[in-house]
Amino acid sequence: MKILVAYGSKYGCTEKCAKLLSDQINRDHDVVLVDHKMSEPANLEEFDWVVIGGPIYMGKTLPEIVAFINHNLPELLTKKIGLFICAADLDKVVEQSQLVFDPELTRHAKAIEHFGYELSLEKMDIISKMIIRMVARVKENQYNIFTENIEKFAAMILNSN
Ligand SMILES: Cc1cc2nc3c(=O)[nH]c(=O)nc-3n(C[C@H](O)[C@H](O)[C@H](O)COP(=O)(O)O)c2cc1C
Repeated sequence: MKILVAYGSKYGCTEKCAKLLSDQINRDHDVVLVDHKMSEPANLEEFDWVVIGGPIYMGKTLPEIVAFINHNLPELLTKKIGLFICAADLDKVVEQSQLVFDPELTRHAKAIEHFGYELSLEKMDIISKMIIRMVARVKENQYNIFTENIEKFAAMILNSN
């Protein structure tokens, strides 16, 4: 089985999660990891599964993820799809995932998961740092990747046929 894991990441958390997922599934399958920012548009034809991961910023995901989905939607709807988000607001996980990904793609997905979040104040630009300090009242770095959710997601892909 050939699997594309396509992600976008501003400060590295979603990238870390995409790599953790790939490490778990590439023991048995051919996995291609693609950063939306750096890559040429992927040729989706060769993939059985497409996993798309993105972080949430002010209720939205990164524009390159939205562009990837919009550009490839008809073909994505012919694939097995897994979606994951990295987001710090634990009360709004379901509602934010539904906002972030196209509704048709969300309905078509075999798995939608929350892989956790990181808030590294020293990596942030000044505006992001201000928002996080003043709005979210975060005073120190937070590292909260949900490895059990990544394992569950990987197992679901590995057990699919
Ligand atoms: C400026 C800013 C705004 C954010 N807005 C949201 C938000 O609206 N909802 C949420 O759940 N998390 C929010 N977060 C948390 C990010 O989703 C979290 O830090 C995520 O791990 C970032 O992933 P990345 O490092 O791959 O970019 C925000 C973080 C920052 C710095």
